[in-house]
Amino acid sequence: MKFLIVGNMGYVGSVLSKYLRAARPDATIDGFDNAYFAHCLTGVKVLPERCLDEQFYGDVRTIGADMLKGYDAVIQLAAISNDPMGKQFEAVTMDVNQASALTVARYAAEAGVKNFVFASSCSVYGIAQGGPRKEGDPVNPITAYAKSKIGTEQGLETLDTDMVITCLRFATACGMSDRLRLDLVLNDYVACALTSGQITVLSDGTPWRPLIDVADMARAMDWSVDRQAENGGRYLCVNAGSNSSNYQVKDLAEAVAAAVPGSRISINHAAPVDSRSYQADFSLYEKLAPSHQPLVDLNQSVRNLIDGLRRMKFADHDFRTSDLIRLVVLQDHIRNERLSPDLEWLNVEALKAAQ
Ligand SMILES: NC(=O)c1ccc[n+]([C@@H]2O[C@H](COP(=O)([O-])OP(=O)(O)OC[C@H]3O[C@@H](n4cnc5c(N)ncnc54)[C@H](O)[C@@H]3O)[C@@H](O)[C@H]2O)c1
Repeated sequence: MKFLIVGNMGYVGSVLSKYLRAARPDATIDGFDNAYFAHCLTGVKVLPERCLDEQFYGDVRTIGADMLKGYDAVIQLAAISNDPMGKQFEAVTMDVNQASALTVARYAAEAGVKNFVFASSCSVYGIAQGGPRKEGDPVNPITAYAKSKIGTEQGLETLDTDMVITCLRFATACGMSDRLRLDLVLNDYVACALTSGQITVLSDGTPWRPLIDVADMARAMDWSVDRQAENGGRYLCVNAGSNSSNYQVKDLAEAVAAAVPGSRISINHAAPVDSRSYQADFSLYEKLAPSHQPLVDLNQSVRNLIDGLRRMKFADHDFRTSDLIRLVVLQDHIRNERLSPDLEWLNVEALKAAQ
């Protein structure tokens, strides 16, 4: 089997690469990325890309059809991957997350790729009342990021192809990675607790947020890369997570406080309404992928984060303005004229001229 991970050098891709390598030692696994976060390693000295057969560098907005040739499965992760980045880079978000993802899928279909896996998000449910959302329920994407995810799903559904397509609507990610990010709710709370002993909940604590550990995201993609059409249909959109992992954010803060003795929780009762609050129903994923169900529970994710952050000797009180926050990394690239305002790498000549 030969796999291509597009967007492999981020938080999820770094875990996925190692997971797939361990699960499928004989497979050929390649990566394609434009390396925005290549330098953001956390607690490791060896690049996670070392476990791949080949690393290709490039911008998915200009990817060529030839890049997709010869693969059995393609996993599409490359994205402007959260709401704050999507707000600041709205046009790029639509371009990278939707238009380019659909181009990659079309090239993959034309090249005879058998399976295409798209990393979608439960954020398409936006603010949803009335219990856990199923895949067929109305969506309510509020942010550019969420709109780009639903737009891509719709484009993939109507693609004229025999390729088996799996859109995994992931719950909010959490957990340790060789490229850890702290702009995720649980990861942020653990970092807060370790640095200041104060877990600052930026909302009033009531929003619902299903969680999935990044290792379990990898498990779901491992299932999807050779899913057969008889199991779920040629095109499948499925919530990826576990029915036991629908939490209100105050529950997450409490789990972290229990794991970090002496830490306190502060809730912002005056917070504006969160653009995300939903529960998701993961029964379909449970039915279709019984052997790939999430294994890492909330307390284990918290313990893994504590261990990982301690290994890094993490003590940065200002981590919300550090390069563990994706938006900060992109802004720093732009400020230092490494990236254009449209997030294109500036060439060496331009860099020299700017100095
Ligand atoms: N982390 C989560 O909570 C979560 C939840 C649901 C879905 N997802 C999805 O999973 C995927 C991976 O998420 P992540 O947390 O690893 O994000 P990330 O931002 O850490 O990584 C994204 C990767 O895509 C690459 N990339 C971005 N634009 C590119 C471009 N124009 N050309 C080539 N490469 C490009 C980046 O360099 C980076 O390595 C994303 O599609 C994200 O939307 C993530």
